[in-house]
Amino acid sequence: MAVQKNAERSELPIGIFDSGVGGLTVYRALHDRLPNEHFVYLGDTARVPYGTKSLATVEKYALENAQFLANYGIKILVVACNTASALALPAIRARIGLEVVGVIGPGGRRAITVANCEAPKIGVIATEATVRSGAYVEAVHKSCSEAVVFQTACPLFVPLAEEGWAEESETASIAERYLADMREFTPDALVLGCTHYPILHDVIQRTVGPDVTLVDSGKATAEEVASLLKSTGLASPRKISGERSLCDDLDHFFVTDAAERFASVAERFLGVKPAKLEAIEVPALT
Ligand code: DGL
Repeated sequence: MAVQKNAERSELPIGIFDSGVGGLTVYRALHDRLPNEHFVYLGDTARVPYGTKSLATVEKYALENAQFLANYGIKILVVACNTASALALPAIRARIGLEVVGVIGPGGRRAITVANCEAPKIGVIATEATVRSGAYVEAVHKSCSEAVVFQTACPLFVPLAEEGWAEESETASIAERYLADMREFTPDALVLGCTHYPILHDVIQRTVGPDVTLVDSGKATAEEVASLLKSTGLASPRKISGERSLCDDLDHFFVTDAAERFASVAERFLGVKPAKLEAIEVPALT
């Protein structure tokens, strides 16, 4: 019976949400890793940023987003936002009867793997709320209790990524200021603990230097989603022949505001605008 049910559910898309465009970095990683799957993405562009807000507010937004996607019909939910993963994962799991994957556990585990030494020095850059939650420190210590973790909040990276300012000199100066102490810490691995930050990957790498391995939790999350689909029998039975392009009409994108702006940032970042993009209002929970 359960097998039968999973066979039906396996046809459904994977749901993804973020506070804005940052989750596109996770969408891209999932799409690359799982070309037979299709996706429904919600960017809460009306309420971004989450990283400067309180736990109660982030939890409320995250639950509304999760419920919207559950109502759409998804087989698993990927919380492609570190802030929502840090603050709201237990509440989301308690509300929707689906497997939920956040980005913090996979990112923390990957950092330990790539650092590959006994007492690794792990840097974490993230939003203020994620840093305050201590979720990365906990995730890293779960994999390696000897690790030394140093965290820095980089709030201005979010609007810079939303703006698509990856190569501007202003971004380089801000990175220089935020990351001076991190450079001094000389991490073995540096976790990009906000899904917006991979958009600024190159400027961050130049600022901390070539010896620091940057960890993109999106890629680590995609690996864990692939294993979960396999172990639960929820992998799509479809076999798509040939190359599948990003943002094709199999994938459905929703935003809560400024669809045109989202489309331009997506184009700059992914090289293509979403074929199916709609602006919607996420209903309040009753
Ligand atoms: N993309 C979100 C994250 O990973 C942060 C952006 C925001 O502050 O909303 O934490």
